[in-house]
Amino acid sequence: MKKTILLAATSLIIWSCSTPKKQEEKTVEAPVESGLTVSSSDFGQMPDGSAVSLFTMKNDNGVIVKVTNYGGIITSLIAPDKDGNMGDIVLGYDSLSGYLKSSPYFGALIGRYGNRIADAKFSLDGEEYQLQANDGKNHLHGGVKGFDKVLWDASSFKNETSAGVVFSRVSPDGEEGYPGNLTAEVTYALNNDNELTFEYKATTDKKTVVNLTNHAYFNLTGDPSQTILDHELELPANTFLSIDNTLIPTAQTAVEGTPFDFTSATLIGARIGEENEQLAFGKGYDHCWVYTDSSDSLKFGGSLYDPSSGRLMNIYTMEPAIQFYSGNFLDGKLTGKGGINYQFRTGLCLETQHYPDSPNQPEFPSTVLEPGQEYYTKSVYEFTTK
Ligand code: BGC
Repeated sequence: MKKTILLAATSLIIWSCSTPKKQEEKTVEAPVESGLTVSSSDFGQMPDGSAVSLFTMKNDNGVIVKVTNYGGIITSLIAPDKDGNMGDIVLGYDSLSGYLKSSPYFGALIGRYGNRIADAKFSLDGEEYQLQANDGKNHLHGGVKGFDKVLWDASSFKNETSAGVVFSRVSPDGEEGYPGNLTAEVTYALNNDNELTFEYKATTDKKTVVNLTNHAYFNLTGDPSQTILDHELELPANTFLSIDNTLIPTAQTAVEGTPFDFTSATLIGARIGEENEQLAFGKGYDHCWVYTDSSDSLKFGGSLYDPSSGRLMNIYTMEPAIQFYSGNFLDGKLTGKGGINYQFRTGLCLETQHYPDSPNQPEFPSTVLEPGQEYYTKSVYEFTTK
C-alpha cells in the first residue's frame, strides 16, 4: 500500500500575468475526472416491506464492489487476474432472498462482537450480561440477529480519492444482550489503487464491548468450484490462540514448528490435513493469529496469493489479530451465485479483529468501550497481481 495516495491529476503550470515584468510560476493540482463511481439500485425487500439497496462502486481499473445495506454485505468483488481477466473473488448469493434464508455470514458486517464469547456471557463492573447463544453454548458474531442481519441506513459518497458507502445505525440497549445504545458508523470505500477500505466507528451511552469486522469469503481463483487449498497465505504472526473444542481460546501458542506458521507465504493445503489437535478442533484452520507487531497503527496484516490467477490480496489493519477460517463448514449444501454449490473449503475468511472471548479474558487487549470514547478501527484490503 502506498503511504500517500496519489490523485489522478495533472500538474498545470499557471502563469500569472498580473505584473508584466514578473512572471510567477504556480503549480496547482487540477483534478482529472476519475472513473470512480458509486451508484445504487433496488435489491428487493425485507420481510416487513422495507426497501433494500445494492450499491455498486467502480474504479478506473475495472474493479467493481457491490454492497447491500442488508447486513452491510459485500455481494461481489470483481478484480483482475494477472492477464487482466476480471473475476468475482467472493462467495455470496445472486439475490437478497439467499441472504435472508441462510448465510454463514457471506460478506457481512459483523457486530457487535466478531467471533465467539464463551458461554454467551460476560461481566462489566460486576454486572453480568447474558447474550444470545447461537453457537452451541457460545455466542458467535453478534448473536441470533447480529449486525449482519439488520437493515442499515446507507448513503453513498464520492470524493477525489474514493467512492464508497457509509452504513449507520443505532443498536439499541439490550440488543442480543449487549449493554448500551451503540451508535455505529461503518464506511466501505474503493480507490484507484484497488484498495477496499473498511472504517468502523462506534460510541455508546453505557459501558459495553465491541469488536467489528467483515466476513467476506475469498476465493482468488474467481472460480468457487475450486478449493482455496492452493492459495498461499502469509500472516505476520509469531503466535496464535489455541482453542478448546468449542473454539474458545485457551492459550497463546508459538507458531514455530507447527502447521500454524504462516510467517512466510505457505500453501494453505500443505499442512491442513496433518494430525494435530488444534486442526482437529477447528476442523481445519479456524483460529486467531496474533500479530507480532502489536501497535494499533495501520500495518501489514497478511497476504493471500493464488498462483493460478496471479491474484494477490494484501491486508493492512489497525487490529491486533486476524481470524483465518478455511471454510471448513462449507459442505456443498448452499447454492451460491451462478448456481454453484459451495463445497468444503471453497472460500476462506481473513477477519481482522480483536481476540475471541476478550470480554472474559482480561489479559487480552481490551474490547471495552466507555461512554465518551470513540471506537475507531480501519482495515484495508488491496487487490493486485504478481
Ligand atoms: C468462524 C467459524 C464460523 C464461521 C461462520 C468464522 O468467523 O471462525 O468458526 O463457523 O465464521 O461462518
